[in-house]
Amino acid sequence: MARRRVAICDLIGRTVVRRNLVAGNWKMNGSRAMAAAWCADVAGNIGPAGAGEVAVCPPHILIAAVVGALAGSSVRVGAQDVDVNDNGAFTGQTSARLIADSGCRYVIVGHSERRAGYGESDQLVARKAGAALAFGLRPIICVGETRAQREAGDTEAVVGRQLAALLAGIVPEAWPEVVIAYEPVWAIGTGLTAAPDQAQQVHRFIRQRLAARDARIAAQCRILYGGSMKPDNAAQLIDQPDIDGGLVGGASLDAGDFLAICAAAGS
Ligand code: 13P
Repeated sequence: MARRRVAICDLIGRTVVRRNLVAGNWKMNGSRAMAAAWCADVAGNIGPAGAGEVAVCPPHILIAAVVGALAGSSVRVGAQDVDVNDNGAFTGQTSARLIADSGCRYVIVGHSERRAGYGESDQLVARKAGAALAFGLRPIICVGETRAQREAGDTEAVVGRQLAALLAGIVPEAWPEVVIAYEPVWAIGTGLTAAPDQAQQVHRFIRQRLAARDARIAAQCRILYGGSMKPDNAAQLIDQPDIDGGLVGGASLDAGDFLAICAAAGS
């Protein structure tokens, strides 16, 4: 389906257009052979950059191959994590400088798997986003509640706290480059998707929180949904007024499914 572009007016009356973004997060999956086949399929079928944007975030070790294979297509490449340091003696880490130098445009920051599995705090996530922005990368910053937090009625408190750290740590001028991804942890890799109105409710809350700081930031910021997004539920989710695309895990590994989700987003 063709997806409308969202146009709204900011406080001084200018029209702000948010382009949908569909980003694939391969997580720690794939191989050189898989990446070559996937890129050939997606680059061959994606069409020119239209109303929406498309990006793919492979593991670091595959980034160079994916950047090369997608050269000349409209598909952007991103990394899945970034170190806060610029360079130096940090064995095993990857800086924003290196990620940008490798041809990436995006980097995922603060994914729940990193917050839970590697102890990333809200403040560290904000610093990582700042490091990415300093090198011209667009951070896709993940927020979201666990099942226990939702059942306790704490969704807005948790997401609000995560956002507060970002609003405190990222300077206002940098916000036009920031993408937020609302990823309810209970919907990630489980096949359980937030219902479109349930997701929209949290997306609206996020935009209101941004607006409380600065209406222009709220109008410009793209807020993606992530959590078991598939070809058969993508259109309904992305059609919600405050959902500006998707961060897609499992379904992004299959080029056909990923292309179908991009089509649902008009990307
Ligand atoms: P799934 O689409 O596999 O649920 O993963 C979502 C996600 O974590 C994307 O970052």
